[in-house]
Amino acid sequence: MTNEEYLAMAAADREARLQWWHEARFGMFVHWGLYAQLGRHEWVMNRERIPLAEYEKLADSWKPKERPAREWAQLAKAAGQKYMVMTTKHHEGFCLWDTQQTDYNAVKRGPGRDLVREYVEACREFGLKIGFYYSLIDWHHPDGALCAKDEAARRRFLDFTQGCVRELMTNYGHIDILWYDVSWPLPDAEAWEAYKMNAMVRALQPHIIINNRAKLPEDFGTPEEHVTAAEPGRAWEACMTFNGSWGYFPTAIDWRSVREVLGMLRTATAGGGNLLLNIGPAPDGSVPPEATERLLPVGKWLAKNGEAVYGQVDRVQGKLEWLPTGNWTLKGNTAYYWCSRWPGTELAIGGLRTKLRRASYLIGGAEIPFTQTENRLVLHGLPPHNPDDIASVTVLKLEFEEEPKQVLGAGYVVLE
Ligand code: GLC
Repeated sequence: MTNEEYLAMAAADREARLQWWHEARFGMFVHWGLYAQLGRHEWVMNRERIPLAEYEKLADSWKPKERPAREWAQLAKAAGQKYMVMTTKHHEGFCLWDTQQTDYNAVKRGPGRDLVREYVEACREFGLKIGFYYSLIDWHHPDGALCAKDEAARRRFLDFTQGCVRELMTNYGHIDILWYDVSWPLPDAEAWEAYKMNAMVRALQPHIIINNRAKLPEDFGTPEEHVTAAEPGRAWEACMTFNGSWGYFPTAIDWRSVREVLGMLRTATAGGGNLLLNIGPAPDGSVPPEATERLLPVGKWLAKNGEAVYGQVDRVQGKLEWLPTGNWTLKGNTAYYWCSRWPGTELAIGGLRTKLRRASYLIGGAEIPFTQTENRLVLHGLPPHNPDDIASVTVLKLEFEEEPKQVLGAGYVVLE
């Protein structure tokens, strides 16, 4: 298969392959590896220049408890997340699965078991789609850096890499997502043999969706630590830490609040994208309590307001605009107004060019009386305080006669 043939093949059924993922919207990222034992970010080996011989000892001292992946999956489910992505190998090079490619793995060293298999089984048990994160960069493999300068080393490192990916795509049944990371030190897709590698992946898992971090754009983009929509027509997923570190970092500070998480989810939904929110479990595998304390209310909120998030959505940009009291998500003629700063008993929305048919509370469906004049919609008879007792984010469902169009612009007078 030529590179062009590969690209055409991957493009042909892209939309169909992505459909479940678009509708799922919200996933859980899990960064877990040897670095959890140090509790100072997954880059600690590089940032502190820990000698390899010293770092390697973490492979033997790592003793996770029984099947923590069940706790993650149970939590993800309760949080309203529909899929998970777990680090099978991070930059440190330690493989969490039973691999033939290196002895630096969870079966041969401290844990003494296949942590990827446990994860896969937990996802299946809780009905979550399964993603594998795989970091291309490798600080442990002797050819991981040398491969940039030495052709024989590059060959060995590519064989290792392809061997790892082949095992992951062969030994664990149906896998839904392959999430590559950092492609240092090779310069491009040719050098990584990314066409060939991904063609192999697709031959083994034809339905799989692949991210853009192996030097090919593939199925979706991956904005990191910011929720920014890709250009229309391009799928995207924002990956976000919970507290500024992907790997376990037991600080009491910097945790994003429930409202911030809902805000990110709204922004992702409004842009037709996904949110992959990370947890960094402790060395024994338990979830930091700060994450659990926030994810459970998020899930409670989503259980009632999920209609504004899940499923096929339309992009808001160019159709609806922000307001001081809230912001939108959109499905066809129905707009969802996420009111996060309560205005009191009346809510005014300017600039709507479309006739409103019905306004109601998303929860319970009670109708809200309104008056609509040219350029101004006013909802009446609201309670004095935000009725949402989880996060003070109340969703108002506005059903229009056609796809809504709002024009506010920057001036008070709209220049057509
Ligand atoms: C960055 C970091 C890495 C993290 C990843 C998640 O590339 O290097 O540690 O796993 O982002 O998106």
